[in-house]
Amino acid sequence: MTPLLVEAREHLSTSEAAEVDRLLGGIDTLAARGTIGEGKRGSLDADAVEGSTVLLARDGQGHLVGFATLQRHPASFGVEIVDSGTDPGEPVTRALLRRAGQEVERRGGGALFYWVHEAGDAEPAVATAEGFTLDRELFEMRTPLPLQSDMVDAARPIVTRPFVPGVDEEAWLEVNNRAFAGHPEQSGWDMADLRAREAEPWFDPHGLLLLELEGRLAGSCWTKVHEEVDPHEGEIFVIAVDPDFEHQGLGRALTVAGYAYLAGLGLTEGILYVDAANTAAVSLYRSLGLEVVRVDRAYVRTMPNQP
Ligand SMILES: CC(C)(COP(=O)(O)OP(=O)(O)OC[C@H]1O[C@@H](n2cnc3c(N)ncnc32)[C@H](O)[C@@H]1OP(=O)(O)O)[C@@H](O)C(=O)NCCC(=O)NCCS
Repeated sequence: MTPLLVEAREHLSTSEAAEVDRLLGGIDTLAARGTIGEGKRGSLDADAVEGSTVLLARDGQGHLVGFATLQRHPASFGVEIVDSGTDPGEPVTRALLRRAGQEVERRGGGALFYWVHEAGDAEPAVATAEGFTLDRELFEMRTPLPLQSDMVDAARPIVTRPFVPGVDEEAWLEVNNRAFAGHPEQSGWDMADLRAREAEPWFDPHGLLLLELEGRLAGSCWTKVHEEVDPHEGEIFVIAVDPDFEHQGLGRALTVAGYAYLAGLGLTEGILYVDAANTAAVSLYRSLGLEVVRVDRAYVRTMPNQP
C-alpha cells in the first residue's frame, strides 16, 4: 500500500485550495457538494473552511488524494471526508478518520461524528474498522416553492419580525438551547457560536424570523439561501419552538412562514435537513409536502482526552 501522509491546516494556502478544487472537480460533484460545511451543503472555498480544520491526505508522490474537514461544535466534533481513491480497502478514508480522531483527542476528546453522504457499501465497514458505530440518520427533504396554498391556509396565522443583531442574541440562544437540549450539533450554543454565524457571508437578519408571544420569544425560523447552486435554493436552517409553546401549531406556522419568505425572494426549491428520528419534525414537514430525497448517516466514536 502507498504510504499516506496527513497534514492538518487551519487555513489553506492558495495552492492548497487549488489542489482541493482540482480534486473536487475530478470526482462525482454530487458527493462533493454534500461534503463540506455546515448544513451539509456547500463547496470548498475560503469561507467554507473558516472555523474548521482541514486534513490533507497525500500519497507517496505528494499528490493530494483526499481531504477532510473537522468541525468543532459546542458539544461534539464532526468530520466529513472526500476520498478520491478507488481502493476497496479505503486507506485514504481510514487515514483521515484516524487523524481526525487524534485531533479531537488533542483538543480534549469528546464525541466525533463521521458524516457519510450518499453512503456507499464500503462506508459501514470502514467506519466500523476505525471504531465508529452508526449513530443516526439525517434526511434531506425538499419541496417546490411556494408551498401549496391549502397547506399554507391551514397554518395558524402568526406575525414574525426579523432578527435584530446586537439585540436578539440572548433570547434566541435561550430558546434554541431549550428546544434542542441534548442535540449533538444544535445544543449548547453560546454567544460566540451565534456571532460566528452572523459573520458568515450568507447571513441575513431578515431571513431569521422571530415569533414573539406573551412578551417573550416563542420560536424562530432561520432561513439560508444557497447561491452556490443553480437555481438558488432556500433552506430552513434552524427552526425551534420553545418547549413552553409546543403543540400549539407554531412549528407548522413558522415552517410555512420561512418558506413563504424564501418564495418571496423568488426561490422555487425549498430544502431542509432533519434527524430521521425526530418524528415530530419529520411528520410536520411531510404534512407540508416535503419529501425525503437523500439520507446521510452519522457514525460516532468517543475519543479520550490525550493532549
Ligand atoms: C419540531 C417543532 C418545531 C414542532 O413545533 P410545534 O410547535 O410543537 O409543532 P406544531 O404544534 O406546529 O405541530 C405541527 C405538526 O407537528 C407534528 N407533531 C408535533 N409534535 C409531535 C409529536 N410529539 N409527535 C408527532 N408529531 C408531532 C404533527 O404532525 C403536527 O401536526 P398537526 O398540526 O396536524 O397536529 C418543535 O417540536 C421543536 O422546536 N423541536 C425542537 C427543535 C427541532 O427539533 N427542530 C426541528 C429540527 S429540523
